[in-house]
Amino acid sequence: MKVLIVGSGGREHAIAWSAAKSAKVDKIYCAPGNAGIAQYAECVDIGAMEFERLADFAQEKAIDLTIIGMDDPLVGGIVDVFEERGLKVFGPRKNAAILEGSKAFSKDLMKKYHIPTAAYENFDDPAKALAYLETEAKFPIVLKADGLALGKGVLICNTLEEAKAGVKEIMEDKKFGSAGNTMVIEEFMTGREVSVLSFVDGKTIKPMTSAQDHKRAKDGDQGLNTGGMGTFSPSPFYTREIDEYCRKHIYQPTVDAMAAEGRPFVGIIFFGLMLTNEGPKVLEYNARFGDPEAQVVLPRMKTDMIEVMEACVEGRLDQVDLVFEENAAVCVVLASDGYPVKYEKGYPIEGLENFKDKDGYYCFHAGTKFQDGKIVTNGGRVLGITAKGKDLKEARKNAYDATNWVSFANKYMRHDIGKAIDEA
Ligand code: AMP
Ligand code: GLY
Repeated sequence: MKVLIVGSGGREHAIAWSAAKSAKVDKIYCAPGNAGIAQYAECVDIGAMEFERLADFAQEKAIDLTIIGMDDPLVGGIVDVFEERGLKVFGPRKNAAILEGSKAFSKDLMKKYHIPTAAYENFDDPAKALAYLETEAKFPIVLKADGLALGKGVLICNTLEEAKAGVKEIMEDKKFGSAGNTMVIEEFMTGREVSVLSFVDGKTIKPMTSAQDHKRAKDGDQGLNTGGMGTFSPSPFYTREIDEYCRKHIYQPTVDAMAAEGRPFVGIIFFGLMLTNEGPKVLEYNARFGDPEAQVVLPRMKTDMIEVMEACVEGRLDQVDLVFEENAAVCVVLASDGYPVKYEKGYPIEGLENFKDKDGYYCFHAGTKFQDGKIVTNGGRVLGITAKGKDLKEARKNAYDATNWVSFANKYMRHDIGKAIDEA
């Protein structure tokens, strides 16, 4: 098979690595890719939002399967463009990617189909949002821009003043652009967060092993929200009992709800869950692999990823046995100091060769490129260092050891990825 992957981050590197392992694949292209992905794939200089050019390329090269890694092209309808041309593509159509693309849509869906989530109201008029905050809100309260906002459109407000400022930021100043035309105001929940990614073929859902992300930039969950500074898998807090509850009350009902709405979902549903005292509730849905969740989940997957994706596209996921290793993995993100606000890039990265032929250790590139024959930093998140171990503690030790194998100017990481493991 010839495979095309759309995207350029650590998640797409993990997808490319997994595709390269597949017995079915003999050629991989990635658009636009990065310097790490180039180890397995021919990188093609086409942007992820250039749907027609990407489809032209897929037709020209007779690509057998295109895998969309990122949310923006999915929400923008890339899958529809490929399908119209008869090209096989893994990911939800535009009318299903809205599950991630509109938080107001996803909240209304959960309400209609009794899927557990935080209580909420949707607003498209800032005056009404302010009136609601003044009369009915309990604090802390959560404000969410409806649309895609690079994972930054969520504000947790402790006081009425903060919440009023938040409404102004999201709905009036349009800090997140048109994503803030509509806003969700939601009850604040407490508990442990877990990410569960799943394969879906429109009817059947097969959840993958669980993971937990660390979204804040600094140790102790301080600092600004980022795309994710590190992950571990599995989550020791995601018990068999919780898994059974989620399958029955959250996962299958979500897939059935989308089908009932005439929006059959094919691809990855990422369930962001909060394990509250009242049981697991949905924080958010994403319509793609998590980044850096993919970097701990895919290395533990035994089943051939390409076979699972083909089964999703062909509507026969029920025939697939999805199996994960009985071990653990931890990913520590090496970022450019200053991320997610302001940082410098273009620094050479030393020591990448240390990962060659090391079983159970992975250096996934998030923001790198070639410059004068060298690999240099090219983003806020630069590398995702993943290691496996027999259990979470061993995996964490291995991952932190391996963070010392590479160096670049401005290298920054959190030192407490997986700290929660000690409380399990
Ligand atoms: P989201 O993009 O919806 O996952 O939100 C980003 C982060 O904000 C989540 O990972 C949570 O840590 C936090 N968050 C979102 N919604 C809530 C909520 N209703 N209660 C508490 N924390 C929340
Ligand atoms: N790591 C969180 C996300 O990919 O949305």
